[in-house]
Amino acid sequence: MRNKRMCTNVFIAIVIASSCAWATDKIVIAHRGASGYLPEHTLPAYAAAYAYGADYIEPDCVMTRDGHLIALHDIHLEATTDVAERFPDRKRGDGRWYAADFTLAEIKTLQARERLPNRFPIGASRFEVPTLREVIELIQGMNRSTGRDVGIYPELKDPSWHRSQGLPMEEAMLAILKQYGYEGPQARIFIQCFEPATLRRIREELKSDLPMIQLIADSQKNSLATEAGLDAIAQYATGIGPDKRIVEENPAVVQWAHARGLKVHPYTLRKDTVPGKYDSFDAELRQYYLEYDVDGVFVDHPDDAVRVLDAWRATR
Ligand code: G3P
Ligand code: CA
Repeated sequence: MRNKRMCTNVFIAIVIASSCAWATDKIVIAHRGASGYLPEHTLPAYAAAYAYGADYIEPDCVMTRDGHLIALHDIHLEATTDVAERFPDRKRGDGRWYAADFTLAEIKTLQARERLPNRFPIGASRFEVPTLREVIELIQGMNRSTGRDVGIYPELKDPSWHRSQGLPMEEAMLAILKQYGYEGPQARIFIQCFEPATLRRIREELKSDLPMIQLIADSQKNSLATEAGLDAIAQYATGIGPDKRIVEENPAVVQWAHARGLKVHPYTLRKDTVPGKYDSFDAELRQYYLEYDVDGVFVDHPDDAVRVLDAWRATR
């Protein structure tokens, strides 16, 4: 009888400990690096995110004509590089410059630059478009020099479109990740994608057991951010990355996801575009982490998110 009671107590303690771990295991995801301060998807932006204390750093990935994965948000180059000035004749009929039409050597001649007004000045300093390998080597290098274990959060951008161009991305990304030691469900990585079929294929056909996040755009909410949609996502993914508007409209989606064992990482919180309903960026961050009870947020200003989480942990 005594043993039985002891076993029950141990079981309860383990359950409480695990639920506390769940409750406190909240992360800061540096969206495109510390992109609020430096041009997105550049090595300095990633290094700043690391120094600000982010837990995971996000490179969006597209592919070059010669099959290299590079860190870039768009399949086009003109919004964040000087490609239009450097290669005026290389645009397609739609007037756009596609990374898939350029070799890595050509892309390396471009200057990366700020996308948004009122952030880092366009044309100031010099930045390159990095490869996924370079991003990983930077983060793993800093992990070695600091003793921390910061993760990566790579996004496959438009993999179906890339495949239509003869550039399959999934296999290439998995090969690189394996080469750099990302293996198994505990690896410090989340692979993310908006395409459910791509993530399913990675899990079921390519047999990867790496953590994966199903991104959910606002336009996908009626099929994916429902209880039935989450049932389906739970078959192959570790969590969801919903547009933050989905959570604002229906905070229950967080509990629905948690009930299915899915983590929730909404995107994107930005200090320079705080919605009017919040009186400060801290208030918006606290609402997501503590009231909506999400497990992480994508944020352009990771220093603020780290500070808010640290302050909350200090009170526990
Ligand atoms: O990947 C999460 C979030 O970054 C998705 O939006 O357009 O910034 O890649 P986007
Ligand atoms: Ca992204």
